Amino acid sequence: MVYRETKLRDEFMDLLFSEEDMEAARRWFLNNPASEGPGLHAYYIGRNKRILKAAEFCLERYPGDLAEIGCYSGASTRPLAGLAEEYGRRMIAVDPWIVDPKVHCHEDTYEKWQLNTKPVAHVIDEVRQKSQSEEAIAYLKSRQLAFVYVDGLHNYEAAYTDYLTVSHCNGIIAADDINWPRPDMWRALWDAARITGREIVWYPNCVEGYLLPIKSPET
Ligand SMILES: C[S@@+](CC[C@H](N)C(=O)[O-])C[C@H]1O[C@@H](n2cnc3c(N)ncnc32)[C@H](O)[C@@H]1O
Repeated sequence: MVYRETKLRDEFMDLLFSEEDMEAARRWFLNNPASEGPGLHAYYIGRNKRILKAAEFCLERYPGDLAEIGCYSGASTRPLAGLAEEYGRRMIAVDPWIVDPKVHCHEDTYEKWQLNTKPVAHVIDEVRQKSQSEEAIAYLKSRQLAFVYVDGLHNYEAAYTDYLTVSHCNGIIAADDINWPRPDMWRALWDAARITGREIVWYPNCVEGYLLPIKSPET
């Protein structure tokens, strides 16, 4: 089977996509009628837990810091920064926090992010920029990275640029909402995988995908 070729991929998939968790998502999908958004929410079940597991998987195996592109109000930044602290690393948080209801960024979103991440602010390097800006790209490229969570602007150009910006990441790059809005996000991930030589790991009941590392873990 294509998805079962390497030890690293095996370990990662076994860790993230347990039969129990996937069954829960499948059940949610079957029990919720199409009127509720074609079972869309099944895709989100367990996502945040998987992102944290993936980050820790990388911290255990690869040098470098954690980064999140698109932080919103900090629901992921906070636990990721907690993990970074536990492993003696830094957490890079990139988001322009420009007020724009179209991307669900409201007047108080940045303050909420600050409040939510206050307990771990000492390990966070904040980059209040669009991740496609020259400054943000140069900054991210200058940092050694173990894991990146890409969840910023959801269109082809932005997502593709983000994947390439962090393609030097030693470990895994997580990509959110790859099935939305169709088919842009999936195409961006696919093209990034093709150009960087990374392999995509994805499970049908999940909203996010992963670009596996190219480098072997340090032993
Ligand atoms: C879906 S939310 C992120 C959710 C967050 N990762 C979480 O788990 O709670 C998308 C975020 O992307 C940010 N964003 C919008 N345009 C961006 C850009 N050009 N570069 C980086 N982030 C951007 C928005 O401000 C918003 O906070």
